[in-house]
Amino acid sequence: MEDEELEDYILAHIDPEGETLAKLDRDTHLYHLRPRMCSGHLQGRLLKMFVRMAAPRRILELGTFTGYSALCLAEGLAEDGELHTIEIDDELEDFIRTHLSQSPYGSRITLHIGDARDVLAQIDQMFDLVFIDANKRQYCEYYDLVFDHVTPGGFILADNTLWDGKVVEPGKKIDAQTQGILDFNDKVAHDPRVEKVILPLRDGLTIIYKK
Ligand SMILES: C[S@@+](CC[C@H](N)C(=O)[O-])C[C@H]1O[C@@H](n2cnc3c(N)ncnc32)[C@H](O)[C@@H]1O
Repeated sequence: MEDEELEDYILAHIDPEGETLAKLDRDTHLYHLRPRMCSGHLQGRLLKMFVRMAAPRRILELGTFTGYSALCLAEGLAEDGELHTIEIDDELEDFIRTHLSQSPYGSRITLHIGDARDVLAQIDQMFDLVFIDANKRQYCEYYDLVFDHVTPGGFILADNTLWDGKVVEPGKKIDAQTQGILDFNDKVAHDPRVEKVILPLRDGLTIIYKK
């Protein structure tokens, strides 16, 4: 069976993403380069479900892009929950803010424009869930920077940790992004402070539990 056929089947048998997110996905494809970076229907519903299960009160996201995953995570939050998301590309700001304002969950989201590594130093707060989805070269740095800001019993999710299968392509020249992901996966695998599992969903999603 074709992967695409299976994906269509899955999408027909899970919750719909809803009108606001469908429009955001469409606009992302129309107006932005590399729209594939957007989480999309299946991963978006998984993120929301994950928030329902783990019930975090405060979420931090590194790498907003057009705001799709931020809105999905925010949708799973309780009324008084909040999400901070950081995006380095200031040209995305107007697009993100417009789409956040069109969603009933946008008011739960605080957008920070800047390099996550600098902004993190200014947001000196604790989070129950952190979603790492920014520059693949910097995943290890992000992990070290956020670790002490994650509550014990909280989670870190890291996206793209199988990097299109490039993590297991021996003999091929390793580019900087693949190296970043390889280093991150090794770091997490050897970290006794956490429990971890990698889901082969889309481009690989690692779920990390802080003991
Ligand atoms: C894969 S996209 C995020 C996709 C989004 N989380 C989603 O699922 O819809 C990665 C984003 O991280 C941003 N980014 C890269 N380096 C960053 C950094 N150091 N700080 C903040 N954002 C960064 C990029 O500009 C890009 O928009």
